[in-house]
Amino acid sequence: MTRPLPSLTLAVMAITLFFSCKHEPTGTMPPTPIDGGTQACSTDTVYFQNKVLPLIVSSCAKPGCHDAISRQDGIELTSYDKIMASGEVRPGDPNNSDLYEVLNETRPDKIMPRPPSAPLTAAEKAIIYTWILQGAKNNACNDCDTSSFTYSGAITPIINTHCKGCHNPNFISGNLDLTVYNNVQTIALNGKFMGSVDHQPGYPAMPKGGTKLSDCKLTQIRKWIAAGAPNN
Ligand code: HEC
Repeated sequence: MTRPLPSLTLAVMAITLFFSCKHEPTGTMPPTPIDGGTQACSTDTVYFQNKVLPLIVSSCAKPGCHDAISRQDGIELTSYDKIMASGEVRPGDPNNSDLYEVLNETRPDKIMPRPPSAPLTAAEKAIIYTWILQGAKNNACNDCDTSSFTYSGAITPIINTHCKGCHNPNFISGNLDLTVYNNVQTIALNGKFMGSVDHQPGYPAMPKGGTKLSDCKLTQIRKWIAAGAPNN
């Protein structure tokens, strides 16, 4: 049986939600790549979708850790909703948030990420700290420019933010260290870089367990590869 009134109400609610979320997406939105957004990045703000989620996915949601399959200690850190539902974040209070506290642990059985992964750098810890301090919002800004596609200006930042946590000498997923230019060049020229980030058939979808890179970032990678994947 169709019930026109409730579905109309739902439609109105959905539209309201859509517009109210436009500038500040909430956890109820699907995980869409974000750089298409119009809001310019403010240097004072740490944006969840741009900086925090990629860092958490590649540092914490690794295979065997807090990904959707392993869920160590019942904690999955793959999306805004899951991170907030973990109870590890107290908005506004980083020093009483486990998500931040475990980064500064010294005991090897308590610190995150667990050895042999390296601890987060001071700059990476500051990203988590400031985001929680600023209210742990699910916010995003436009941080991508398709006319910039050099290795140092575009590709390295993408790798550091979205890939490095799982592809570094201490945690070398897929036998691939992406902190070394030659290895990045190899996967650029043999098709694996584009195949994996563009989720093409026959390649493992990357970042594994995370949100697909935005169209803008995919364009930067595509242009860099088309230019011969130079070390520029
Ligand atoms: C959460 C961990 C994680 C993140 C983040 C991640 N990867 Fe991976 N990657 C893996 C794992 C694990 C494999 C091994 C294959 C598999 O399990 O799907 C892999 C395999 C690959 C492969 C295939 C290697 C081969 O020779 O077959 C490529 C290419 C790759 N990753 C590229 C990337 C790129 C580029 C990024 C960032 C945009 C990235 N990965 C982010 C975990 C990750």
